[in-house]
Amino acid sequence: MEQAHGDAADLPPVDTSAAAIPAADGAAGVVSPDGPPIPGRRPEERPPFPPVPEVPSAAPVPTVPVGPPVSLPPGAPAAGLAALRRRYARGELDEADVAPDPLTQFAAWLDDALAGEVPEPNAMVLATATPDGVPSARTVLLKGLDERGFVFYTNYESAKAADLGANPRAALVFPWHAMERQVRVTGTAERVSREESAAYFASRPRDSRLGAWASPQSQVVADRAALDRAYAEVEARWGEDEEIPLPDFWGGYRVRPETVEFWQGRHGRLHDRIGYRREGEGWVLERLAP
Ligand SMILES: Cc1cc2nc3c(=O)[nH]c(=O)nc-3n(C[C@H](O)[C@H](O)[C@H](O)COP(=O)(O)O)c2cc1C
Repeated sequence: MEQAHGDAADLPPVDTSAAAIPAADGAAGVVSPDGPPIPGRRPEERPPFPPVPEVPSAAPVPTVPVGPPVSLPPGAPAAGLAALRRRYARGELDEADVAPDPLTQFAAWLDDALAGEVPEPNAMVLATATPDGVPSARTVLLKGLDERGFVFYTNYESAKAADLGANPRAALVFPWHAMERQVRVTGTAERVSREESAAYFASRPRDSRLGAWASPQSQVVADRAALDRAYAEVEARWGEDEEIPLPDFWGGYRVRPETVEFWQGRHGRLHDRIGYRREGEGWVLERLAP
């Protein structure tokens, strides 16, 4: 799954300095250059970190008979959905004003989102799919941005990681509703270097580092108490000032963009959409119908 960064490294440098993503403890999240790709490791080759605590999995769920069809109470909020409408008037997006490459343009919009009232400005929806096309989507946090792409961190044994291991194609959506903006990205995800993951992991608050050790992400667990026990176990393992190592099963992915689309809400539903499509070493700029 790992790929060389080849042509991405040849792109003109992007000034993403304004777009440093604050890590949870305030450390800048713009990432350092990649080291060599890490070859996939078999479990028996893993470094000798302490074993992950056992989190009991759930007992088999009894089959529940299908009940009557769902009926929403009259007057429930869903009844008003068709009439929910908002007039978009906050901005315009013109081909003449955008940057020649999408990462510079993204950095400028991220800057706006960080400065503005966008809640969780670095939250993005990550969509993955199994090789036979079963999609799934979830929110993750953008933790690094440079001319190579968009970085997030996760558990390498999670459902999303299983998808990406078999099918590295991914899509991202930044839903910046407060700014009447949306950014969509499609591309290919590859693992970041261990050095890069280690540097980010070390910048996380202690409880987040312990949580990464304690959570067998995406697996069914018995109950909340099982998770709390697993957390207590890892908490007792490392002293307050002791270094908590980067779990072998945890790290970052970088989504190298192939297409990036910027959407700005406009009146009459004639929204502005400017798309960038990678072609060779450069980018083709296109206006898309809303
Ligand atoms: C605001 C927000 C931020 C999140 N950030 C991350 C993240 O950076 N990494 C991560 O693995 N999960 C994150 N999650 C949890 C994921 O949405 C998801 O539940 C989890 O990664 C398991 O996904 P999977 O089973 O599809 O692999 C976040 C959830 C929310 C709501």
